Amino acid sequence: MFKALSLLPAVCLLAAAALAASADQAARRPPATKAAAAFRPYAPDPAHPVSAAQLDALGRRLFSDPALSASGQLSCASCHSPAHAYGPPNALATQPGGKDGAQPGVRAAPSLRYLQNVPPFSEHFRDNDGNDSEDAGPTGGLTWDGRAGSAHEQAGLPLLAANEMANRSEEEAAERLRRSRHAAEFQRLFGQDIFKEPRRAFAKAALALEVFQQNPREFYPYDSKYDAYLRGQARLSAQEARGLRAFNDPAKGNCASCHVSRIGEDGAFPSFSDYGHIAVGAPRNAGLPANANPAYFDLGLCGPYRADLKQHAEYCGLFRTPSLRNVARRQAFFHNGVFHDLRQVLRFYAERDVRPEKWYPRGQDGRPAKFNDLPAAYRANVNMEPPFGGKPGGKPAFGERDIDDMLAFLKTLNDGYRPPAGRAKS
Ligand code: HEC
Ligand code: HEC
Repeated sequence: MFKALSLLPAVCLLAAAALAASADQAARRPPATKAAAAFRPYAPDPAHPVSAAQLDALGRRLFSDPALSASGQLSCASCHSPAHAYGPPNALATQPGGKDGAQPGVRAAPSLRYLQNVPPFSEHFRDNDGNDSEDAGPTGGLTWDGRAGSAHEQAGLPLLAANEMANRSEEEAAERLRRSRHAAEFQRLFGQDIFKEPRRAFAKAALALEVFQQNPREFYPYDSKYDAYLRGQARLSAQEARGLRAFNDPAKGNCASCHVSRIGEDGAFPSFSDYGHIAVGAPRNAGLPANANPAYFDLGLCGPYRADLKQHAEYCGLFRTPSLRNVARRQAFFHNGVFHDLRQVLRFYAERDVRPEKWYPRGQDGRPAKFNDLPAAYRANVNMEPPFGGKPGGKPAFGERDIDDMLAFLKTLNDGYRPPAGRAKS
């Protein structure tokens, strides 16, 4: 368990601590009327009034400062690049990290945009408060396996702190802060004596990072062409509109059944995820150093990076459905970064079950080793709903033209759309 946690980028521990800090605040907030989200609104402490704007400004600086990492080389922005929708800046399947800045990662760095409505992890998620709503199964939580940002994670954090490494990291981080260019600001905001309490200093850094990560302009601008289209301020091209139809069509992409594309009943614009945990059977990424060990498997919900659900064989291979906003800007796809081209991902969806030989290496019996990133016992967990589920040799759920159209549509989910000048709202 400790070993597994220590594989996480050291600076990500700060992110985890931010979630603990927010739990602390949440206790002081009036109970939420709607389902809570993994990120919680900031409620200033009356005894030490620091405004959300001050924390936001501090968090923004900390986010990009490599002086806070054990290696002195990495900042949050190294893996979650502001110029890449807070996703990875390069095509590497995983980003290097750790103490020397050279440890290979085990998972693709997600974009940090559009996470503000991710619900806390639940095994039995219900969409609304009514008792008629269906159990949608494991949903929510932060990270690919949803282990952060839940009641469980909060209980697990002391564990993390008890780990020798984490303890050292907290104090080391506070010591680095004390020596950094942020020191005076820390003292101004949190008191002259803040560095006499390294853990409090650490918690404040984490809080600032968390508040910054809720900055709407940075993290949920909703300014893609698709948003403009939903607002009636832009028209999709014929190809983009066909792509949207294929994306939504249960008989073609059926993508929207997980990557929600509609405005919600509450008026919220879609994040292109229902936050559900699903096994799509991504091929094993032979390029990941961890995979050199044939006995190593990243099983998502059932471990090894979260430990509470390891008895649940039915959860092995499940990962949280990512948002597809800004996905056309990514260069590595799926939790293991196995694909590097969005067209390849779309072909995989269309052909996984009808042309398995294209996607998986041959096994000893000469047949394609389907779902080879999962031990045989868990392969039945892989989703078989459309667009999946065809027979080998059958017809792909959608063709190359649909793929061209869907690629055009997915590009409308890139943030930063500016309507062409001189074209009035239609
Ligand atoms: C070395 C690369 C790296 C660095 C540096 C890094 N992260 Fe991450 N981050 C990741 C990876 C990989 C994941 C996914 C981890 C997993 O699923 O287990 C992640 C996940 C997250 C998540 C959850 C996202 C989601 O979709 O649920 C948040 C929030 C986050 N990081 C914030 C931060 C912050 C804040 C910092 C700086 C203090 C930071 N990260 C530094 C690689 C990095
Ligand atoms: C049954 C739910 C489901 C359906 C249907 C579905 N997806 Fe996904 N999608 C997921 C999950 C879960 C992942 C993450 C899987 C993983 O990493 O192991 C994912 C990942 C992706 C990714 C990679 C994103 C990233 O950040 O790495 C893309 C692109 C994508 N889906 C596009 C589509 C398209 C296009 C369709 C329709 C053709 C579709 N999905 C249908 C659940 C679904």
